[in-house]
Amino acid sequence: MQFHTLFPVNRRRFLALFAYILFFVIGYLVYTRNSSYFEQITKKISVQTSANEVLSQYLIDTPGCRIPHLDPFDSSVKSLIHKVSKKDACKKEKFFIEVKSNAKLEVNVNLLRKNYNLSFDEINCVYKPILREPGHRNLTTDNQFKIGNSKILTFGVPLQEEFIVVRCFKKTQFFHEEYIALTPIIQNVEENCKKRENGFSNGDSLNVMIIGIDSISKLNFIRHFTKTHTYLRTVLKAFELRGYNKVGDNTFYNLTPLLTGFFANQYWNITKKYMFFDHLNFIWKEYSTRGYRTLFAEDMPKYALFNYNRRGFLHPPTDYYYRPFSLAVVKSDMLKRHKKKCSHSELEMQFVFDYVKQFTSTMDDKKYFLFAFTATLTHNVLNYAGYADSPSYDLLQFLHNSGTLNRTIMIFFSDHGIRFGKIRKTLLGKIEERMPFVFLTVPEWFQKKHPIITKNLRTNERRLTTPFDLRATLVHLLKFIGNNDGTLRETVSSEKGISLFEEIPINRTCADAFISSHWCVCNNRRNISPQEPIIASAANVLVDTLNHWLKNYSDKCAKMKLKKILDARVSTNKNKYVFQGNIEYLVTVITSPGEAVFEGTIKLNENTKNLTVVDDVSRINIYGNQSSCILDTHLKKFCFCV
Ligand SMILES: *[C@@H]1O[C@H](CO)[C@@H](O)[C@H](O)[C@H]1NC(C)=O
Ligand SMILES: *[C@@H]1O[C@H](CO)[C@@H](O)[C@H](O)[C@H]1NC(C)=O
Ligand SMILES: *[C@@H]1O[C@H](CO)[C@@H](O)[C@H](O)[C@H]1NC(C)=O
Ligand SMILES: *[C@@H]1O[C@H](CO)[C@@H](O)[C@H](O)[C@H]1NC(C)=O
Ligand SMILES: *[C@@H]1O[C@H](CO)[C@@H](O)[C@H](O)[C@H]1NC(C)=O
Ligand SMILES: *[C@@H]1O[C@H](CO)[C@@H](O)[C@H](O)[C@H]1NC(C)=O
Ligand SMILES: *[C@@H]1O[C@H](CO)[C@@H](O)[C@H](O)[C@H]1NC(C)=O
Ligand SMILES: *[C@@H]1O[C@H](CO)[C@@H](O)[C@H](O)[C@H]1NC(C)=O
Repeated sequence: MQFHTLFPVNRRRFLALFAYILFFVIGYLVYTRNSSYFEQITKKISVQTSANEVLSQYLIDTPGCRIPHLDPFDSSVKSLIHKVSKKDACKKEKFFIEVKSNAKLEVNVNLLRKNYNLSFDEINCVYKPILREPGHRNLTTDNQFKIGNSKILTFGVPLQEEFIVVRCFKKTQFFHEEYIALTPIIQNVEENCKKRENGFSNGDSLNVMIIGIDSISKLNFIRHFTKTHTYLRTVLKAFELRGYNKVGDNTFYNLTPLLTGFFANQYWNITKKYMFFDHLNFIWKEYSTRGYRTLFAEDMPKYALFNYNRRGFLHPPTDYYYRPFSLAVVKSDMLKRHKKKCSHSELEMQFVFDYVKQFTSTMDDKKYFLFAFTATLTHNVLNYAGYADSPSYDLLQFLHNSGTLNRTIMIFFSDHGIRFGKIRKTLLGKIEERMPFVFLTVPEWFQKKHPIITKNLRTNERRLTTPFDLRATLVHLLKFIGNNDGTLRETVSSEKGISLFEEIPINRTCADAFISSHWCVCNNRRNISPQEPIIASAANVLVDTLNHWLKNYSDKCAKMKLKKILDARVSTNKNKYVFQGNIEYLVTVITSPGEAVFEGTIKLNENTKNLTVVDDVSRINIYGNQSSCILDTHLKKFCFCV
């Protein structure tokens, strides 16, 4: 049977059609062979998705940005992932003194009997307050605390103290010491808040709660926060920002935008090493002027956000400021004492979470802005994220069951993914480092009352978003604290971000969102052979640039040489999703001395053929004390002390 009797086409047209199809088949084969590893791994997606969610190849897929949906257990990283043993999980030993809201302490007589075989009548306790040294410009005030005079501890009455160390005795025999953070109602804070909230109605105003855990990527959250993740999805019905892209390297460079609406460079560089951070445009100040109580808590005091080789605050930045306690705990033997049970600093996280719980209980329906960030546990080791699942789950459950989340907008998030270690040499690691997890909860009644906001939040789950947008959302939320006459008050602007209550433009690119191309995950980066001459040039420009940045420290830091090119990728302007249509190379190199591993983005100017490093450069292996001879927090990651 002749083919053309079946199809009413003549032979010539058939051949043309055949050639046409052949062209596409070959094209496809060539394309898949050359296509990035990136696209190959997205093909085998086995990511858990919620029931009503369409399984897509992309996390977000918009004309401005496309981000692949990656498998958290991809073969390239599988050997690096392991679950931490539940047995190791830390349960803070239950202390017979229980902390109640408004700084009241009570004795649990059963525990006292069980642990010490003592009755309430047999013991007496004293406490000493832990105090912040009052501000003095000459000192690094923020690093000082002092222990006040001893006072008799009376149970069941509110103590007018924020942080205490308690010691208990049987007759005169000492038997127990404990550090306790309290959340008293503070008289002059309340008076100020009352005065300020005059003139603002309380209609739709929500508390703000920002709770962060350091260095947890979206993918590592899926790997390790199984209980918490399920709870966020099924019970809290949280919004998840799937297209959230970091805007700077480390915590400081990502949280400053979130808290102030500006890049950190706007305020700070090494020339400002004696600067206090009091005057920054912190979003909590806006809430404070509207009668909100404010709280700021962080663990790991040495490496804290505004304190690591920086000067911190001259005066407490918020009404409730956890830092003196954090300093005292780290200096005490508390952590050592719990070492058997809490071997991976879970205790410090637990302390911060307990403080948050207690604060919300004390405040009840009073309005507040709370920012808590915990870093010790998860900062350095990829899989320690597993230890943070239970404490996080417990915290969220508490906040939900106590009704707190029904009057609160909560941002539960991380600043970036893990920045160091083996996983950073894989493509998956390079992407996930730039994409921390971010969830938002908004009370159901608020969502019902503001359906457009709710719709926009759902839409924005799959748009390109940044820390600046979180800030803009908190600015937007201020509008719901109306005047008594029902009108809305104009608010501070936040021009780098877009409120998530509004629709993020579908065509938003990294450039629109103030994400430099070094951090941009929308870039579709293809593998390119490190042997290509252009890559050698790019790698040399990278190393030369680092040496140039270290010029002022040339007496202290060794001059680096390129030792090896580990990996190279290219984004080309043939791809419509590429950032600004430039050709850019993401190059990973080892330098010597020091065996440092750096990852930089080098842009090719097609007219001048000039190569330049874009924005910051990542250091992707731990530098430890290699750079202990310099203090510059930005340049430390590059320097190898001679
Ligand atoms: C507990 O203390 C009582 C005295 O107060 C003593 O008789 C009893 O043996 C103690 N129990 C234990 C288990 O030590
Ligand atoms: C603080 O510095 C000023 C001027 O630099 C000096 O006069 C003063 O004595 C210093 N105070 C303390 C407590 O060090
Ligand atoms: C340091 O920051 C200030 C602004 O805060 C800026 O004017 C100055 O140029 C910066 N210096 C360097 C070396 O970047
Ligand atoms: C949440 O708050 C709303 C408005 O105040 C109230 O109507 C609703 O009953 C509350 N829901 C719960 C579960 O407490
Ligand atoms: C995005 O779309 C808006 C209007 O739809 C337009 O004004 C804007 O220029 C577009 N931006 C880009 C980067 O294409
Ligand atoms: C080196 O120091 C000088 C003077 O302190 C400063 O102006 C310059 O910006 C510094 N250079 C670099 C690369 O930091
Ligand atoms: C090439 O880039 C370097 C910086 O890396 C710059 O100093 C130089 O002026 C540029 N040359 C041209 C021709 O643009
Ligand atoms: C750096 O740390 C290593 C171990 O981590 C130690 O052996 C070495 O003495 C340290 N060097 C300096 C200069 O502190």
